[in-house]
Amino acid sequence: MKRIVVLTGAGVSAESGIQTFRDGDGLWNKYRFEDLASPQAWARDPELVQEFYNWRRKIVWEAEPNEGHIALVRLEQKYDVQIITQNVDDLHERAGSKNILHLHGEIKKARSTADPNLVYELDHWELKMGDKCEKGSQLRPHIVWFGEAVPMIEPAAEISSTADIFLVIGTSMVVYPAASLIIYAKQDIPKYYVDPKAFQVSGVSNLEVIKKAAGEGVPELVDTLLDQ
Ligand code: OAD
Repeated sequence: MKRIVVLTGAGVSAESGIQTFRDGDGLWNKYRFEDLASPQAWARDPELVQEFYNWRRKIVWEAEPNEGHIALVRLEQKYDVQIITQNVDDLHERAGSKNILHLHGEIKKARSTADPNLVYELDHWELKMGDKCEKGSQLRPHIVWFGEAVPMIEPAAEISSTADIFLVIGTSMVVYPAASLIIYAKQDIPKYYVDPKAFQVSGVSNLEVIKKAAGEGVPELVDTLLDQ
C-alpha cells in the first residue's frame, strides 16, 4: 500500500469556523503571540493565557469537521495515510482519520507544569488557575508555545521521509520546523499544496500548487488520488 503523508495547518479548519493565524483576520494579526502563547506570557500573566486558550478551546469544542477533513478519511480506502497536523484542534480525529500526529499540541488536553509526562484529556472547555495535576502542580494548556521545543518533530520528519505522495493543506509554511517537513520527502515523489495562497516552495520539486479552499480542493484531489 502506498503511503500518503499529509501536512495540515490552520487553513484546513478555517471552514469549520476556527480562525487562522496570519490571514486578514488571523489571530496573530490581532494579538501579539508573545503576550499569549509563550513561556514568558505564562510566567507573567497565566490568567490571561488561560483565558485565551479557554476562548479558543470553546470554539474548537463547538466546531465540526468540514469537507476537507472528511475527504482525507476517504483516502484510507486505498492508501496508508499519515496526517501530521500543526493544528491543536481534534477535527481530523472527529472526522475519522486514523493516524494523526500533533506537532504543536492538543487544545483539549492539559499538562502538568511540574511533569510534562502528565497529560490529561479535558472533559470541558474551561481550564482554570487552581486546576492541578495529581502531584499538586498547576495545569497548563497542552500546547507547544513559541520558544519551546517541538518534541514530535523527529517522528514527523521520519514519517515524511517515507512518503510516496506528500500533501500540504492550509498552511502558510512560515513556521519552522513544521515547514521544513516537505524537505524530508523524497525529491521524486508527487507533492500537492492546497491553499488559496499556495505558492511554489523553493527547493521542492514535483509540487503541484492548487489554489483552492480545503473544502473544495481536498475532495477533488482525493477523488483524483483514489482514481489513480
Ligand atoms: P497560518 O495562519 O500561518 O496560515 C493559514 C493558511 O491557511 C494560509 O496560507 C491561508 O491562505 C490558508 N487558508 C485560509 N483559509 C483556507 C481554506 N479555507 N482552505 C485552505 N487553506 C486556507 O496557519 P499555520 O500555517 O497553520 O502554532 O500556522 C502554523 C503555526 O503558527 C500554527 O500551528 C500555530 C501558529 O502560531 C502554534 O500554535 C504553536
